[in-house]
Amino acid sequence: MNIKKRMNLFLGACLLAGGMWAQTVCVSTPNTSLLLSAPQGCKLKVLHYGHRLAANEVESVSAAEAGHNAYPEYGLICPTETAIAVKHHDGNMTLDLQVVQSRVEESGEAMLATVEMKDSRYPFFVTLRYKAFRDADVIEAWTEISHQEKKPVTLHQFASAYLPIRRGNVWISHLYGSWANEGRLAQEALQPGMKVIKNKDGVRNSHTAHAEVMFSLDGQPRELEGRVIGAALCYSGNYKLRIDTHDDEYHHFFAGINEENSAYSLKRDERFTTPALALTYSNEGLSGSSRNFHRWARQHKLAHGNVPRKILLNSWEGVYFDINQEGMDQMMGDIAAMGGELFVMDDGWFGDKYPRKSDNSSLGDWVVDTDKLPNGIEGLLADARKHGIKFGIWIEPEMANTTSELYEQHPEWIVQAPGREPVLGRGGTQVVLDLSNPEVQDFVFGIVDRLMTAYPEIDYIKWDANMSIQNHGSNYLTKDNQSHLYIAYHQGFEQVCQRIRAKYPDLTIQACASGGGRANYGILPYFDEFWVSDNTDALQRVYMQWGTSYFFPAIAMASHISAAPNHQTFRTIPLKYRVDVAMSGRLGMEIQPKNMTDEEKTLCKKAIAEYKEIRDVVQMGDIYRLVSPYDNLGVASLMYVAPRKEEAVFYWWKTEHFCNQHLPRVRMAGLNPDRLYTVHELNRIDNVPLPFEGKNFTGAYLMNNGLEIPYTHQVDYHKQTAYASRILQLTVVD
Ligand code: DGJ
Repeated sequence: MNIKKRMNLFLGACLLAGGMWAQTVCVSTPNTSLLLSAPQGCKLKVLHYGHRLAANEVESVSAAEAGHNAYPEYGLICPTETAIAVKHHDGNMTLDLQVVQSRVEESGEAMLATVEMKDSRYPFFVTLRYKAFRDADVIEAWTEISHQEKKPVTLHQFASAYLPIRRGNVWISHLYGSWANEGRLAQEALQPGMKVIKNKDGVRNSHTAHAEVMFSLDGQPRELEGRVIGAALCYSGNYKLRIDTHDDEYHHFFAGINEENSAYSLKRDERFTTPALALTYSNEGLSGSSRNFHRWARQHKLAHGNVPRKILLNSWEGVYFDINQEGMDQMMGDIAAMGGELFVMDDGWFGDKYPRKSDNSSLGDWVVDTDKLPNGIEGLLADARKHGIKFGIWIEPEMANTTSELYEQHPEWIVQAPGREPVLGRGGTQVVLDLSNPEVQDFVFGIVDRLMTAYPEIDYIKWDANMSIQNHGSNYLTKDNQSHLYIAYHQGFEQVCQRIRAKYPDLTIQACASGGGRANYGILPYFDEFWVSDNTDALQRVYMQWGTSYFFPAIAMASHISAAPNHQTFRTIPLKYRVDVAMSGRLGMEIQPKNMTDEEKTLCKKAIAEYKEIRDVVQMGDIYRLVSPYDNLGVASLMYVAPRKEEAVFYWWKTEHFCNQHLPRVRMAGLNPDRLYTVHELNRIDNVPLPFEGKNFTGAYLMNNGLEIPYTHQVDYHKQTAYASRILQLTVVD
């Protein structure tokens, strides 16, 4: 890093009070700052979060802003919402936190601010930490809680962080939708009252709602303009985001673990660390905040965030449970012939005493079903080698079926209310393993470890999880600590993930949970990507992937070409459209290739070859969402632009079809206005090229006028359909 940059960062972390401990703490990323007032013996206040402060204005801002208690505690100002509420060992329900000391340190990739607080009467400590990244506009905030009281203290509320957001036509954008409809976008103005976004699934926390939200500060959300604060709770378990609006000038935003039925009994000297809340700010609209999250994800949060992903075929929709050696070999041959790089064998390959023929048995018995696969995994790896591709495998390690050898041996390993029959899930026999139990953690780690030790060539694991915690109870936790189950489950899960990553750093792992149930930044440090949804219908995916892109980069969004009619919506969508949608994420296939015509295979082969050309731009580029499918304008459009703006890919998908339809002309964004770009259509099916094919335009023209995209394809009469889509590759002319 050059000296100027270092100086800037130093100034960004200013300690105004002089002396060893700061009265004012300011941490900055390249374009944002968080300013806190931290006088010793007083309340910690948050004064500013938003655009980056100049070093010479920090003092003025500190004087001008009254600020808000940075971690509101329950007990002495009862009527307001709080970040923390506890019951001390003696039954006292109050907290009065005061700053003990604060500091700002350099910590490799980031500046780390720490503010230590202590209760004025009890030996009860709360430390707030803020990590401001040097190369991404994200500040992670989290909290550590400990005490030295005589007996355990019960934590009833323990938010990761709190942020006051100034009122004035503030809108939120957040995601909702359950199985087969994940990642739907909801946008609404904040009104007086409390808005709660929460999850209580126990396992799959991005079904029904998401742990991320964006605040548009300047009225109705806009993609390319306006100030936006984004927040993502980096947690895989139950969460609660609260936005309280009562009779003052601020919306009060709290985010953290969902404390419902999760009171935590904290022992003396034990440290409770909350998950981080990642905050970003942009004055370039929602897309600007998304770009910040994506950059941070690729650089710091997502496993292998800077490594381009392989193009794969996953076997699920192609054969479901009907796995066999010949079938796998055929699929591997087909994907290899189309230019794919990886084949993933999904569910149905395991079970000895109880072979997995459907979803009602065998989870837990991770041994090859030798009736289906007489040559075992060795045979499959040999096939993959023969076809010159890599091999991946599906597992669902956190689960068991009651019809399994595992359950027969270890009935006590499942999540189950003591003294009651277990509540059963998928297939009428599925149960969740109790990851609070270290023996279960060893078992789950061992599933991956045994596979990888025996078959180090395995390149990819699809890690599924298809059940919620339905019944509350652990045979491992003490009777006093049953309320720890949800939290202990995810601590156990994370420990397993850490062990896997320590031993198998290069393995690619997909997070799948009944489709898109695990799209969250709690798991992504250990997982390379997530399955966006079991719904592979391309039209519905336009909506789901649009929403998901608010917080997650394309490199993490598994997006597969599937069959028509679609297996979930039964809609028949032409292959060209299916391909054009899948190519806007991490491209893959979810289809039986032997049912495809030669013409279809040729189209896919060409698409795969073309995706390889744009892969870096899609997976590493900056997103600009242009026309939202949720605006019902008949078209959706977005683009990715390479960081140095020398390449871009523009996507345009028609979302409804009427004759003589008037669609908006889409203006591009994110290009260099002064450079000339050549336009080239990918996956062309039209009989004649588009009028602008091969022509050069300035970025300024493309951003001010856009290109006129015909609303149908010029194809032979019998090939015409209601669908139309385009992918344009833009390359700077040297
Ligand atoms: C649910 C997943 O979402 C699917 O992709 C598939 O892997 C099935 N489980 C297998 O049982």
